[in-house]
Amino acid sequence: MKILFIGDVVGSPGREMISAHLKELKQTFKPNVTIINGENAAHGKGITEKIYKGFLEQGAQMVTLGNHAWDKREIFDFIGDAKWLVRPANLPKGTPGVGYRIMNLNGTKMAVINLLGRTFMNPADCPFRKADEILTELEGEADVIFVDFHAETTSEKQAMGWYLDGRVSAIIGTHTHVQTADERILPRGTAYLSDSGMTGPLDGILGMDREAVLHRFLTGLPAKFEVAEGQKQLNGAFIDIDEKTGKARKITRIQRFDNQMIY
Ligand SMILES: [Fe+2]
Repeated sequence: MKILFIGDVVGSPGREMISAHLKELKQTFKPNVTIINGENAAHGKGITEKIYKGFLEQGAQMVTLGNHAWDKREIFDFIGDAKWLVRPANLPKGTPGVGYRIMNLNGTKMAVINLLGRTFMNPADCPFRKADEILTELEGEADVIFVDFHAETTSEKQAMGWYLDGRVSAIIGTHTHVQTADERILPRGTAYLSDSGMTGPLDGILGMDREAVLHRFLTGLPAKFEVAEGQKQLNGAFIDIDEKTGKARKITRIQRFDNQMIY
């Protein structure tokens, strides 16, 4: 089972990178399934139905979210019918949408789980205990299990990696928008990467226009953040899983730029 994962798509520059590069990435890696983290896809915060459907039309099979899941209020109108959209699982009971999905890919059952970290983030239920709960529910139901762990700190992500090693096929971090270089297969067969990085502006600060962010750092005053313009990047990961054992064979980081003018 070959999985292509694209890290946090930020605003229209991120969506443009999907349009420009997804085809080529699919030709290169020949994934059975493509998963996009789309929680920042609409103007840097949240997702709309049009964008969600656009990702599916362009070849994604699943879209994951994060702490900005609810930032575009229209999500409440379509999440109930969005079959391939997964919001964080460790949110209070009664939250719209679902925290994991199972898809059948030519007879292989693959589960995609989205979890939120809690360190330096807004309150959420315990992601470790929620993972236990979901893995119990998934017993006998999934050959391959993919986790998008949307969290701020590398420590919480590494902790989750070790906690789930051998129990899931892959755990890929999202949210920080900066790709880490620590991809590996853990001893019990789980592919791990602390953060896949973002897809969108290259010259901003985490994808936002740097002037506004700098203003806030220099003055402490509030500033309105806009998605940055200019050069763009696409970040993600490719994971190959043995669907018979559910263990990872390979993990590769992916990084693409919209031109070669990198300084
Ligand atoms: Fe986030």
